[in-house]
Amino acid sequence: MKILVSAGPTHEYIDPVRFIGNPSSGRMGFLIAGEAHARGHCVTLVSGPVCIEPPEGINLVKIVSACEMRDSIMELFQRSDVLIMSAAVSDWRPKTMSPRKLKNKRKWTLELVPNPDILSEVARIKKPGQVLIGFALETENLVENARNKRRAKGLDLIIADTPGFFVPGSSSSAAFIYKDGFTEKFENISKEEVAKKIMETRWLR
Ligand code: CTP
Repeated sequence: MKILVSAGPTHEYIDPVRFIGNPSSGRMGFLIAGEAHARGHCVTLVSGPVCIEPPEGINLVKIVSACEMRDSIMELFQRSDVLIMSAAVSDWRPKTMSPRKLKNKRKWTLELVPNPDILSEVARIKKPGQVLIGFALETENLVENARNKRRAKGLDLIIADTPGFFVPGSSSSAAFIYKDGFTEKFENISKEEVAKKIMETRWLR
């Protein structure tokens, strides 16, 4: 199958040397891409700025901002069977980017505007048979919040996890929530195990 995976953070530049972002390492998406390739799928990985080596044998598309990720995903999804959206997309970007480095000697306010919701946009062009899988990072009400997110974004499956995954090598509570409501909960699951479980879902095994 043709699998499209997104990974990593997005960086939203304020000026040429500063950005807003988040601590996503990209490991989750890179593990999913590696696992999918190992099982014989044709994999394209769209990744934000990360410091890890991509798995061998995959097509890597490097992007920086959420808008660039949206443009790549919208184009690539049209020739993909499955999208697995593990990127930690920045929800906002600065309204304007200064072409010059901002000087630091004054108090100022940064105006942010919302970024496109990539999964929701993809859900609108999704054809029958194409599969959408997303993640939900939650600090509270893991399952309930993720259920609402799955519905709002039109996903076939959402994987809810906690910020425990931000700590390298750590495990997290996670829940796989399917469109029909079926929910599988896991305590102390590693990213490697999450990647394997995704590949064992009925669309990919
Ligand atoms: N996502 C996306 N586009 C965005 C933000 C998130 O496609 N602009 C995707 C993520 O890749 C993930 C899912 O939506 O698969 C949920 O992301 P998450 O950060 O948990 O939720 P948000 O939609 O950003 O909502 P909130 O931050 O309010 O919890």
